[in-house]
Amino acid sequence: MRKSRWGILGTADIARRQFIPSLQASGACELVAVASRDKARAAEYAKENNIPLSYGSYEELLGDPSIEFIYIPLPNHLHVEWTRRAVEAGKHVLCEKPLALSVEEIEELMALRAKSGKLIGEAYATLHQERLQGLRELFVNKELGSLSSAHGVFYLYNDNPQDVRNAFPCEEGGGSLWDIGVYPLVVGRWMFGEEPVEVACLMERDPLLNVDNHTSGLLRFPNGGQMSFACGMRHPLATQMTFYTDKYRIEVDRTYFSNSDEEYGFKVYGDETEGVVKSYTFRASDQYRLECENFARSAYTGVPFSGSLENTLNQTKVILALLKAANSGEFERV
Ligand SMILES: NC(=O)c1ccc[n+]([C@@H]2O[C@H](COP(=O)([O-])OP(=O)(O)OC[C@H]3O[C@@H](n4cnc5c(N)ncnc54)[C@H](OP(=O)(O)O)[C@@H]3O)[C@@H](O)[C@H]2O)c1
Repeated sequence: MRKSRWGILGTADIARRQFIPSLQASGACELVAVASRDKARAAEYAKENNIPLSYGSYEELLGDPSIEFIYIPLPNHLHVEWTRRAVEAGKHVLCEKPLALSVEEIEELMALRAKSGKLIGEAYATLHQERLQGLRELFVNKELGSLSSAHGVFYLYNDNPQDVRNAFPCEEGGGSLWDIGVYPLVVGRWMFGEEPVEVACLMERDPLLNVDNHTSGLLRFPNGGQMSFACGMRHPLATQMTFYTDKYRIEVDRTYFSNSDEEYGFKVYGDETEGVVKSYTFRASDQYRLECENFARSAYTGVPFSGSLENTLNQTKVILALLKAANSGEFERV
């Protein structure tokens, strides 16, 4: 398979910290260019990150015919617009989460995908983690019993008013639910292997910044499974999930991240007197590198991509139901 040639829109922090090093470490991908709204910023970022070309506007980069793949790490309210423009320019697009903020936007992107034949994916690197794929298989095969309950948190501390998470209101994708609450939700839905039918939600908003800084929710799945999650931006970092079957408790540390330096895994506990009864270990892997390689493979061969628009549609319906439930104070149907 030929090397996939990538361009990035914006000089984002996440690209610098995670996506660029992983893309550059992949033998299957090549990072060709970055674009910024500011020409000098693009040039400086390109130099700092060893990117051959820089462009002073996103349009200019989209006009480069040598680039086939676009990665979009822009603020959340710009995701759909620039995904649309990149696909119309003939590119496959991997866009950061949350890809869209409404069902209508996702349906529009599905129509665009059908018309253009280009792949559109949502960048949940977590979905490419071999450890979580292993856990999902155990649940599918009922090797750890029947999954009935999941609890997930994603907490961090961020009260910087200039940060994109605080600078835009919830309606434009700001706040903790759209930024980090999405992780326990995407993993929980995956592990249960079905979509929740009903949700409830508690939400605290920062009085000055107009974003949710602490949100908790409950989800009911059709086969009787229950899930709770919490996310917030005024807390010490916490990123773990716990799953319960009729036999075991499964603890997954740093659930949303893989370990690219050393082996990692999860532990299975029996009842309180038994302690750890099984321990699963996986080889070190970089979920961001797997994500871009899997995306390019799917674009070239048509094999399904786990961050599909169908997954985005189901995930977004859950988030919108949670936002509705936070306002109504009632359980809401998804
Ligand atoms: N997958 C993950 O692990 C992960 C982790 C963190 C964040 N994310 C996602 O990545 C995206 C970016 O997050 P980030 O923290 O990297 O943001 P960031 O550092 O603020 O980067 C956003 C970039 O968008 C461009 N931009 C265009 N219009 C803008 C506007 N009106 N305001 C601010 N920036 C604008 C800017 O580049 P120029 O001005 O140079 O054009 C800026 O560098 C978000 O969607 C977030 O949810 C994903």
